[in-house]
Amino acid sequence: MNVDLKTQILPAGAAATAAAARCLAEGGLIGFPTETVYGLGADATNPEAVARLYQAKGRPSFNPLIAHVGELAAARRIGHFDAEATALAEAFWPGPLTLVLPKTADCAVADLATAGLDTVAIRIPAHGVARDILRAFGGPVVAPSANLSGHVSPTTAAHVQGDLAGRIDLIIDAGAVAVGVESTIVGCFETPMLLRPGGLPREAIERVLGHALTGVPEHAGAETGAPLAPGMLASHYAPRTPVRLNADQVEANEALLAFGPGIVAGSDGAKAVMNLSARGDLNEAAANLFGYLRTLDTTGAHTIAVMPVPNHDLGEAINDRLRRAAIGRA
Ligand code: TXA
Ligand code: MG
Repeated sequence: MNVDLKTQILPAGAAATAAAARCLAEGGLIGFPTETVYGLGADATNPEAVARLYQAKGRPSFNPLIAHVGELAAARRIGHFDAEATALAEAFWPGPLTLVLPKTADCAVADLATAGLDTVAIRIPAHGVARDILRAFGGPVVAPSANLSGHVSPTTAAHVQGDLAGRIDLIIDAGAVAVGVESTIVGCFETPMLLRPGGLPREAIERVLGHALTGVPEHAGAETGAPLAPGMLASHYAPRTPVRLNADQVEANEALLAFGPGIVAGSDGAKAVMNLSARGDLNEAAANLFGYLRTLDTTGAHTIAVMPVPNHDLGEAINDRLRRAAIGRA
């Protein structure tokens, strides 16, 4: 990837807010403070920007991201709030709580940002600078912690700079954050479930609900921040149509998910052909991946044949998700 971006560092203020909003609108990446940890933000509705975000984090993995919004009305446009979700939002937003909710039918968050799931994680951060940026930008901003994958979450702009300088466009410096651990994540399913302990104590949440939060089944690995192991609550996206990997030809009644400029035998007779990136660009391919799988799933094809995708950069995550898609839903 390009690690030669000139990363601008600006002290928080009106000029920085305007620069951040402009950068997001142009598909850029910003490091910005929230009350929990610094986030790495991108326009949640721009799949190319989201692909760039995963790449900037260093280890390409399409963990679903939290969509940050400025107000409850904006949250309601992307997620379905039941009574308990509404109670939690009213009690704790803005603040260090993330709610995982069913997506609305017209949820604008890119499929790549939710890793193709039918749910979306949403948070209204409490930090004044984060709120100013969200207001100025006007749309949802996805933001994982602004560290390289495998490093600890950043609580100062200098941490962000140490990990991501040269990989992102802009860092907004507002000093050290207040909370220092990531938000608590609650899945609002049939009964609310604690997916990740964090900056808001469980007890406070349970007081509002009037009952205990369910725990994540043990082997799901909640404490690693990866509660969504394949086959768990929100299993990874898999089409209904069987998926055949590393296809070098298209067979009868198959649809083709292509990659690159090459042509495979039999593609003329395919039920449908969609090319993740005709120019062989892995970022573009990542941005298209979940949407194209969904579309090919509706073509009535017997199988979706997938051409090989190189296994470097975002290709590693693309291949991981394709393998999961090929295994199918648990
Ligand atoms: O405090 C925070 O939450 C920070 C600041 C920047 O807001 N963000 C943060 O993001 O910690 P990240 O990407 O490091 O952690 C997000 C977690 C991941 O463990 C991911 O699996 C989970 O949220 N998550 C996101 N979408 C989900 C979904 N639809 N279902 C279940 N878990 C989800
Ligand atoms: Mg993180």
